[in-house]
Amino acid sequence: MSIYVDLTKAMISEDELVNIYPQIVTAEEALSERSGAGKDFLGWYDYPDTYDKEEFEAVMEASKRIRSTCEAFIVIGIGGSYLGSKAVIDALNSFFANEKDLKGPKIYFAGQNISGKYLNDLFELVKDKDVMINVISKSGTTTEPAIAFRVFKNLIESKYGKEESQKRIFVTTDKEKGALKKLSEEEGYQTFVISNDVGGRYSVHTSVGLLPIAVAGHDIKDFMKGAKDQMDEINGDRSMTNPCYRYAAVRNILNRKGKDMEIMVNYEPEMQMFAEWWKQLYGESEGKDGKGIFPVSVNNSTDLHSLGQIIQEGKRNIFETVIVFDQHQNDMVIPYDEADLDGLNYISGKGMNYVNKMAFQGTLLAHVEGNVPNVVINVNELSAYSLGRLVYFFERACGISGYMLGVNPFDQPGVESYKKNMFALLGKRGYEDLAEMLKKNL
Ligand code: PA5
Repeated sequence: MSIYVDLTKAMISEDELVNIYPQIVTAEEALSERSGAGKDFLGWYDYPDTYDKEEFEAVMEASKRIRSTCEAFIVIGIGGSYLGSKAVIDALNSFFANEKDLKGPKIYFAGQNISGKYLNDLFELVKDKDVMINVISKSGTTTEPAIAFRVFKNLIESKYGKEESQKRIFVTTDKEKGALKKLSEEEGYQTFVISNDVGGRYSVHTSVGLLPIAVAGHDIKDFMKGAKDQMDEINGDRSMTNPCYRYAAVRNILNRKGKDMEIMVNYEPEMQMFAEWWKQLYGESEGKDGKGIFPVSVNNSTDLHSLGQIIQEGKRNIFETVIVFDQHQNDMVIPYDEADLDGLNYISGKGMNYVNKMAFQGTLLAHVEGNVPNVVINVNELSAYSLGRLVYFFERACGISGYMLGVNPFDQPGVESYKKNMFALLGKRGYEDLAEMLKKNL
């Protein structure tokens, strides 16, 4: 099994696992029988089997064309429409990919914020380059990506004209509805579909994630194979060795004991965005009805020098979930130095991955000593295949964990509140009364 959830340092007992098992069975049944809250948004559940093979081939074709044509590929989206692809690309790319001579285009993200500086800087960087874009929005109406799309659509049209722009703009959106779908039909853009039954944060294995990941040069067949193998393994093991059950169980056991904050810990900085994706997945899925475990993340050893203190000795409402990779592709051996003025010769000849592992083990023991339960998720290696597994693992565990918590893990009603207020304050038609009220409160 390539994902193993180690609970030896999680400060829970075997009895607690045994006692919570019936709740896991109930939650899993609600998922597999599609009988729980949010049951219309379970398209991701068996997606590694049921995905549209023709669309997958179209994604492969488009990615080849994009890779051989443009210098800059701009992925426009926010939340579930960008975090997954950014997570996988960052995890697999060289840290300095955009500074290297690549075989394909440099990848940039836009529409994930409302920063004028960000968009202006990106615009200036790519305006004289050969540009293609993929705008991703399920609703097709989200403000942040809509603004970025308008800016880059204008750029592409002014550089290449309307006809050529059709070949440079790729749209991933709903099959039938939304402003983006309508616009794509009118302008003749190639479109990819976000199924009705897959929410944004569960969409990494759909065209939402696949096209950007493929354009970045990563093997999306391996990525899908990882998801499929993970799904088959989970489906074939209904006992407490099932990694999803273990993860969902430990989260709920700890939460019921007052641990209401979960820290995802990485020792590989390329996994920083993966933690951002995970934060959205769990925060948006479970944080409702006055419930939820607040998901935060740290990147060690960097953050041991900033947040290490509060984790070690602060309020004891936290637990950590550490992702550990067993194998690493690249390493740097620490050189021997005759003078040894820095006193580092005791680790000369060792690889930095070894030092990193000792940092992890030392921190684990210290934090457990400081009464912070640690869940350790062991993964074989960092590859497209294992990330495909890891994404599916977290999605499936999230569905189970959310049902155990007693919430609908597939809606996000709270996300709408700020949007309504923003529209009102910006003067959007239809929001006049709300605008009046808000202005009195500002
Ligand atoms: O998970 C979700 O549903 C959200 O994070 C959405 O992905 C995000 O709000 C972007 O929405 P859309 O894809 O409709 O632009």
